[in-house]
Amino acid sequence: MKQVQGIKGVRDVLPGESEAWRHILQKARDIFHTFGYSEIIIPVIEFTELFTRSIGETTDIVEKEMYTFDDRDGKKITLRPEGTASVVRAYIEHNLRETSPFSKLYYIGPMFRRERPQAGRYRQFYQIGAEVFGIGHSMIDAEVLSMLNLLFDSLNIKGVELQINSIGCPQCRPAFREALKGFFADKISELCENCQRRFESNPLRILDCKATHCHELAEKAPKTLDYLCSECLTHFKGLQDSLKTAGVPYVLNEGLVRGLDYYTRTTFEFVGTSLGAQNAVAAGGRYDNLVEELGGPATPAIGFSIGMERLVSLFDDSSMERPSAGIFIAALGEAAQEKAFSLLTQLHQQGIPAVMDHSGGSLKSQMRKADKLNAEHVLIIGEDELARGVVILRDMKNKTQEELPFSEIAQRLKGVRS
Ligand code: HAM
Repeated sequence: MKQVQGIKGVRDVLPGESEAWRHILQKARDIFHTFGYSEIIIPVIEFTELFTRSIGETTDIVEKEMYTFDDRDGKKITLRPEGTASVVRAYIEHNLRETSPFSKLYYIGPMFRRERPQAGRYRQFYQIGAEVFGIGHSMIDAEVLSMLNLLFDSLNIKGVELQINSIGCPQCRPAFREALKGFFADKISELCENCQRRFESNPLRILDCKATHCHELAEKAPKTLDYLCSECLTHFKGLQDSLKTAGVPYVLNEGLVRGLDYYTRTTFEFVGTSLGAQNAVAAGGRYDNLVEELGGPATPAIGFSIGMERLVSLFDDSSMERPSAGIFIAALGEAAQEKAFSLLTQLHQQGIPAVMDHSGGSLKSQMRKADKLNAEHVLIIGEDELARGVVILRDMKNKTQEELPFSEIAQRLKGVRS
């Protein structure tokens, strides 16, 4: 029979890797709670309009990467390419600013973009994201970055550099945009096809084009920091002071303009020096106008998303404990199998991890399975043990064994596992 393959750019995370995912997600959840964040679970589908209005009509995501389809009633629906727009929609729709004094929210889940798959770039990928609403002060920008820094440190992630920039606000950005257009006006024919289009619609994007010649030209282009208004400049300086207070190392990257249109002021990326072309492991920024632009009250906001696949690729899982099956019950003969099943049920009810091989087999083959599963202990029940009401408890690490009456098993195993 012909095999059905998975979709290109859409990965399976198999046992062996999924333990690292679980470990990372648990660390992230713990750290987010330390900083006062609550989890929000947002839908995978939204009306397309949500993304076109927030991410921007002329961005790569909206122009060519969204998975969009007509619903049966003709409405356009899109598989979410990112989480921020949905969190903002939910914040407005459920009036979250009234229900919680701190709107610090985090989310975890798959996002969908029809990009060209390559190392570190997938069509379905996972993000861990966080958003903070209602605080315009630059200190919260530093707090957000300090939280990310702490997460990477706690996961012992090496070779990640925080890059920051400010892209100004609607007051000062028009002048910068004009300066950029002035700079590139006589170089249009030298730009790549994408940037020739961007020249009119979104000239800031030329600054982070990956094409070699565009990149070279961009190096000499006007810098956003030279065009910031005094409020944006004060904000950016405040951020840098607070980063120093928090002990978070960073570098300035004046080319960091980000590929989504909703950003104002602070933009940032954590860049993995070993990651190659797709090197941003986490990215985000401030978006002070988005809540209002999507129909809510004027509310400053800032957030980030971590690319889970990229984070996992930087994570050294050798420091993690090898997963263990806990107790393996090896039973020989049908009557012993039945007794083993009864014991297994008792262990599960007490929350003790345990497995057995229901198909039986020789002691040798069952012990091999126990070894493969990295079992800490094996309970062996043969016909003789069954008749005497005992089991053999074998400690797989110390290679010692002892006999235990049935009635003491659960108590004893609780002891050895605690
Ligand atoms: P973004 O830069 O589009 O921002 O994505 C954030 C991160 O998601 C990237 O730095 C990268 O690690 C990961 N990522 C993006 N696309 C892919 C892909 N095709 N395959 C694998 N990983 C990918 C956002 O999505 C914003 N919502 C971030 C944000 C939150 N800004 C404010 N709040």
